[in-house]
Formats: sequence, structure tokens, C-alpha cells
Amino acid sequence: MAEPVFAMEHVSKAFGGNVVLRDISLSVEPGEVVAIIGPSGGGKSTLLRCATTLEQIDSGTLSYGDLQVATTDASGNVAYLKGDALRRAKSRFGLVFQSYNLFPHMSVLKNIMDAPIVVQKRDRAEVEREARALIAKMGLTGTEDKVPCQLSGGQQQRASIARALALNPDILFFDEPTSALDPELTGEVLKVIRQLAAEDITMIIVTHEMAFARDVADRVVFMDGGMIVEEGDPAEVLANPKQERTRAFLARYSG
Ligand SMILES: Nc1ncnc2c1ncn2[C@@H]1O[C@H](COP(=O)(O)OP(=O)(O)OP(=O)(O)O)[C@@H](O)[C@H]1O
Ligand SMILES: [Mg+2]
Repeated sequence: MAEPVFAMEHVSKAFGGNVVLRDISLSVEPGEVVAIIGPSGGGKSTLLRCATTLEQIDSGTLSYGDLQVATTDASGNVAYLKGDALRRAKSRFGLVFQSYNLFPHMSVLKNIMDAPIVVQKRDRAEVEREARALIAKMGLTGTEDKVPCQLSGGQQQRASIARALALNPDILFFDEPTSALDPELTGEVLKVIRQLAAEDITMIIVTHEMAFARDVADRVVFMDGGMIVEEGDPAEVLANPKQERTRAFLARYSG
């Protein structure tokens, strides 16, 4: 089997006395789309924040391809990569939040070009060509020179996705990318994520959109109480959940 694009093994995380992730192991193959579902407070965002080093894990390991980002030694001490090695690992993933993480004072084009130029020190002309192609692909032609507040929520979210893609990550993480949007704008954003899935972009998507998870994901992971309660083929997990907790959660989405 191919090396996983991303793997976390035996990851635990607590905030004070509140254990939020309990011995989570999750890995993603190249081209795989994983949807994470589950009730509020179950630890989904914390999992993404730990995966993307916005939060430090208390124990376990994290890796992106051949780069071990965090390891835990026999005495339980966690060590993270530092400096250039950490920067290299961070360039392997992108993260899209629920609220569009754009720079408010920069145009759409500048938002997309910023990191490749500033962080990756790439050639400006080439970055601009790629950024314009991403803008077209995201259905944002005509918005190049607008600032985020001049765009709809759906356009802002698609610009955020373009910005993440501009760094050519190996994997994209999404944390409820449509939950701040009304249904029409949700559809626009889900359409571009579907398109990325069709292009075999590797993704982990936290979502409450069950129909989307069923159609687009290769695997659904149900999280509750900081644990992966159940995972598997979307049609199987969503239609015939094996665990009572999964059934109870999904019952709220039917009908
Ligand atoms: N920075 C933090 N400090 C303290 N507690 C936190 C922090 N972040 C999350 N928590 C706690 O961790 C638990 C899991 O929260 P998390 O946001 O990961 O859940 P979630 O599954 O994403 O929920 P939702 O569906 O509402 O987004 C909650 O009890 C929350 O209060
Ligand atoms: Mg969350």
C-alpha cells in the first residue's frame, strides 16, 4: 500500500482535566476523501487543530508522508519537528475553516498569491498565473481585485479554498466549510469540493452535510466523546450504523 499522506497514531489531547481526544488513530491514503461527522463537542475541530499543529498533542505521533511531525518517547515526552523541517511539514497541508480565513485588506488575487510568494519564495509571475487559474477554477473570475467584504460568503469560502490550494498541499483539511452559509451558497462550495475529490485531491472534511459525505467521501468517521466510535464505507456507516451512538446521532438527520 502507498505511504499514507497523513497519519496520526494513538493521539490524546486534554484541555486542563477535560480529555478531548482519546487515543485517536487515523491515516489517509493518497487521493482518499475522509468525512468526519459527529455531535458538537465530540472533538472534531480539536482533531483537525492537532493534525495541523495549531494545538499540541499530549501523546501519540503525527506524520505527513515521510516526515514525522510529532513523536512520543517511552517516558511520554512529546517532541515536535522544529525550524525548516517543521516548515516543510506544514507546507504539506492546507486548512480551510468555517469562517473564511482571508486577509480582509487584500484583494482576492493577493490573498491567493501571498503565501506562495512570502512563505515559499516562489516566482511572482508564475504564482500569479497559477492564482488566476485557481480563481477561474473556483468560479471566481471577475473577483480578482475585490476585497473579501465585497464578496458573498460562498465566494469568500471558495477564495479560501483557492488560497489553500495555491500552496500545492498534499492534503486539505476542512472544518465545517459550509456551516456559516445559507443553502444556496453551501451548494456552490460543496460543488468545488466535489470537483477536488474528482481530481483525487486528498481531503479530510468535518461536515454536517450527510448527503455530501455519502456522495463524496471514500470513508466516513463518526467521532463522539473524543473517540472514533465507528468508521467505514459512507453508504454502510450512514445507512446501517453498527454502533448505537452512531444510530442516535444519525437519527437526528433523517426525515
Ligand atoms: N482551546 C480550548 N480550550 C479548552 N477547551 C477546549 C478548547 N478547544 C476545544 N475545547 C473543548 O474540547 C471539546 C471538543 O471541542 P471541539 O471543538 O473539538 O468539538 P467539535 O466536535 O468540533 O464540536 P462542534 O461540532 O460544535 O464544532 C469541547 O468540550 C470544548 O469545550
Ligand atoms: Mg468543531
